[in-house]
Amino acid sequence: MRQATEGIQQSVLVTGAASGIGQATALAFGQAGALVWCADLRLEKVEETARHIATSGGTGHAIQLDVTAETDWEKAVEAIFQASGRLDVLVNSAGISHAAPIAEMPLEDWRRVLAINLDGTFLGTKHAVRAMRQAGGSGAIINISSASGLKAAPGASAYCASKAAVIMFSQAVAKECIAHGDRIRVNCICPAGVKTPMWESMPFFQELVTQSGSVAGAYAMLAKDALEGRFAEAAEIAQAALYLASDAAKYVTGTELVVDGGFTA
Ligand SMILES: NC(=O)c1ccc[n+]([C@@H]2O[C@H](COP(=O)([O-])OP(=O)(O)OC[C@H]3O[C@@H](n4cnc5c(N)ncnc54)[C@H](O)[C@@H]3O)[C@@H](O)[C@H]2O)c1
Repeated sequence: MRQATEGIQQSVLVTGAASGIGQATALAFGQAGALVWCADLRLEKVEETARHIATSGGTGHAIQLDVTAETDWEKAVEAIFQASGRLDVLVNSAGISHAAPIAEMPLEDWRRVLAINLDGTFLGTKHAVRAMRQAGGSGAIINISSASGLKAAPGASAYCASKAAVIMFSQAVAKECIAHGDRIRVNCICPAGVKTPMWESMPFFQELVTQSGSVAGAYAMLAKDALEGRFAEAAEIAQAALYLASDAAKYVTGTELVVDGGFTA
């Protein structure tokens, strides 16, 4: 991050920070010396993330935010501005998975997946761009898409559609920011399998646990074609976010960083 070279404490907002990739990313930015705003629907859980940052010597604050509610974004950005006068980095990690055959999928399920994964990313990006412009026109927005936005997964059409849309949305905003004269970079990260509660909550994962006899066995069955035959740790995705937020990536915008152990190759 810029903080390392210029002595500025970056103000970083991470959504989905109560769990998985968002939580690991919030912790990584905290360890890197950022002021981290940890946002999630689940306040008690995200308070734990903020406490964890504090106990490791960093500064973290919890914010309750439903990414689909524009008023929540307005309140969150206003609170961040009042406290720190700036927003340097936004990581949109809040998201849900969904598996259902197309012929059976209720319209409300489709809408819910698109609302959280795509509308949430739109709203966060919109309010971050506004905030970054207000503070001088620079910053980094990192949207967590997925390998499922690049390579189709049967039975996950809503999820794949939402994640592909996040990639093109992010690229369009990246170009719009360039045209506007901003130094706001917008990028995606596309992980494949990452060990998080998202998987462990899915019914088919529980079937694999039964078949293999353990959670580790279920992950090993799913990851047999990936590098080292394993899923990524959430902390490995957090490292990609740190890179995209850093000066090392100051010429990187409008791209997707694939961190997938070779899954899409
Ligand atoms: N785990 C994977 O294998 C994987 C792979 C590729 C992409 N991703 C993406 O990474 C992101 C994080 O996934 P994860 O695996 O860490 O999942 P996770 O379930 O561990 O964490 C998701 C977090 O998002 C929060 N959330 C859900 N709806 C919300 C809302 N409306 N407002 C605010 N917060 C909300 C949840 O409370 C939860 O804390 C998601 O966008 C997911 O699609 C995950």
